Amino acid sequence: MSIAHGIRTLGVLGAGQMGTGIALVAALRAKVPVLLHDRSSEQITKGLSLVDKLLAKDVAKGRLTDEQAKEARDRISVVGGDVGIKGLRDVDMVVEAVSENLSLKQKIFTSFVAELKPEAILASNTSSISITKIAASALPANVSSASEEGKKIAGRVVGLHFFNPVPVMKLVELISALQTTPETLDRARAFAIACGKEVTTSKDVPGFVSNALLMPFINEAIMCLEKGTATREDIDTTLRLGMNHPMGPLQLADFIGLDTCLAIQQTLYEGTRDSKYRPSILLERMVDAQWYGRKNGKGFYEYNN
Ligand code: 3HC
Repeated sequence: MSIAHGIRTLGVLGAGQMGTGIALVAALRAKVPVLLHDRSSEQITKGLSLVDKLLAKDVAKGRLTDEQAKEARDRISVVGGDVGIKGLRDVDMVVEAVSENLSLKQKIFTSFVAELKPEAILASNTSSISITKIAASALPANVSSASEEGKKIAGRVVGLHFFNPVPVMKLVELISALQTTPETLDRARAFAIACGKEVTTSKDVPGFVSNALLMPFINEAIMCLEKGTATREDIDTTLRLGMNHPMGPLQLADFIGLDTCLAIQQTLYEGTRDSKYRPSILLERMVDAQWYGRKNGKGFYEYNN
């Protein structure tokens, strides 16, 4: 079988909403075996039960046979415990989907890319962090960024930005670091297409295209609430019914996670020094209060998880 992307086994780092969704579309649509890793066994259990629920729904709706669902589920295995991320060493591509935190990502990437097979790709699902910075952190301490080896290692790092909920949203945004090779970009694009997604390409700027546009919009809605311009319901209804958005901006912020929105907005603000990206005080305070939105039951709205 000829596979343009050359991905015969995929590793996914992080079994949160995004990592689990990526594992599912890879197993179901691209039909590749997936090794899913998370430090937390509780998170793995949650992730796999979401996968089971979504596959069962597809079977109930007649979109998949029992057998197709079982085949997809069987393609996903868990790597955890003492093996850690080293258990992903033999895969052809790793998609990193851990929290939106540069030092955490750098810690994971340092030396890890060098341990992978020479042709393996390391893709980050970051929403806003510089892929160029992440690629630079992939080099072991004794390898210079200007050396042939350094260029080869960093050239295998790329941004592959999926959207939540991954099984539903049709887009993947592809981001090239300064170091990314054209071959890495082509293979990552082919893989996203095999997962059933349309692909757009963005330069490596803070927030890329998607979040550079979405986050000021969400932030402006939070400032409307902060100023008392309208109630949360009226802000959301205005955008839902007036502009046909599937969710209002405050609902969407809760859905993405207020901690994630703040982290992205901080990256945008620090990366551009443009005041239009300054996060609102209300968002900062809500995150201080650990009101993270839908994921922990309290954001602009309340949820029974
Ligand atoms: N995981 C998987 N599938 C889900 C899901 C989830 N978390 N939530 C909903 N779905 C599925 C449902 O099962 C249903 O599937 P079906 O048609 O096969 O039955 C379908 O989505 C529609 O769901 P519902 O009928 O329950 O509800 P809605 O019609 O209101 O749709 C929604 C839910 C798809 C989430 C819709 O409200 C929507 O599109 N919202 C906007 C989402 C969005 O903008 N996402 C991008 C966020 S930005 C991002 O991710 C980037 C990051 O960098 C911040």
